[in-house]
Amino acid sequence: MGVSGSCCRVSDVQAGRGEPVIEVTAAAHPNLAFVKYWGRRDDLLNLPLNGSISVNLSGATTTTSVDFDDGLAADEVLLNGEPADSTTVGRVTAHLDRVRTMAQVVSRARVVSRNDFPADVGFASSASAFAALSLAATRAAGITLCERDLSVLARKGSGSACRSIPDGFVEWLPGRDDVSSYARSLAPCGHWDLRIVTVAPETAPKLVSSLDGHRAAHTSPFYAARLAEIEHVLGRVRASLVTRDFQSLALAVEREALSLHAVAATSVVAHVPWLSGILYIEPATVRLMLAVQHWRRDGLAVAFTLDAGPSIHLLCEAGSLGDVRAAVTQEMDGIPHQLYVSHPGRGAWLKNETGEAEAPPDQTCSQ
Ligand code: DP6
Repeated sequence: MGVSGSCCRVSDVQAGRGEPVIEVTAAAHPNLAFVKYWGRRDDLLNLPLNGSISVNLSGATTTTSVDFDDGLAADEVLLNGEPADSTTVGRVTAHLDRVRTMAQVVSRARVVSRNDFPADVGFASSASAFAALSLAATRAAGITLCERDLSVLARKGSGSACRSIPDGFVEWLPGRDDVSSYARSLAPCGHWDLRIVTVAPETAPKLVSSLDGHRAAHTSPFYAARLAEIEHVLGRVRASLVTRDFQSLALAVEREALSLHAVAATSVVAHVPWLSGILYIEPATVRLMLAVQHWRRDGLAVAFTLDAGPSIHLLCEAGSLGDVRAAVTQEMDGIPHQLYVSHPGRGAWLKNETGEAEAPPDQTCSQ
């Protein structure tokens, strides 16, 4: 069905029809899942097999400008000041094609995107990238989508990108089909003054991408068990967030990350025949996982979570940040790593010409 006219408005001035070119700039944060998206029902539409819950990470931002220009023969993509590689250009063009179809625009676009954080330190740059691209490209093409439809669009670029559209603490409803699989805010970013300390050990590039991890998930004998308990886990994490119950959140989130990694470690990656299972974690990751459990036993309210990589994200309330940082610094003494601190961040937003924040996307949907 795609995005219907029910909550999107096609403006009178459309790019690609001889009208003045309008450049639009939008920004978005990556997000960190408390309950993870792992395994898909539909690879083309990025429909997940389970719901997930996340928080936007204020410590990292992607800023993207888009303009549709009749004079261009092909889409141009500049990433952190350099022309993007052909795989990235292909992914961006496929996403722009979705926008062009919706807006009935034919012009090619110039896309200039910049991350204020390095690649491969544990922030899902594809989430912030496709969230910012979705908002900037739709507005540049002359259409205004409500938050739900923007989240649906972002999801098709990168699954987790749909969670970077709404504000603060976010739940992705798996849905039944394209239009019912989107993310919505569970609570605004000011709801709970959490801190997320991302520790990225210096490691070699990972062997298996998250894309291949998603595809392999069903080969694990533990995947069915994971899916069988996911509604219960979602309920517990939702309730812990609403009541700001850190102890409950800590145990649920940690166990959930371990569940994903148990599935990954017992998954078969068809095209890597020598690999017995996917180990995304490294010695430094395990060192901090064990340390966090000991710190909690000793009274420090802290929890860890892990994505499909060696970085580890530590959660705590703002008042414990100093103790958590000090503990990490001591534990990682002599081990090369990078450290970033985030708090719950806003959803994707438009930027005006001076770079100041403008209103977030239209919040209302008519159905
Ligand atoms: C482990 O969003 O990278 O971070 O749909 O291919 O873009 P694509 O997958 P992606 O998967 C994220 C996996 C995860 C868990 C999560 O963020 O929920």
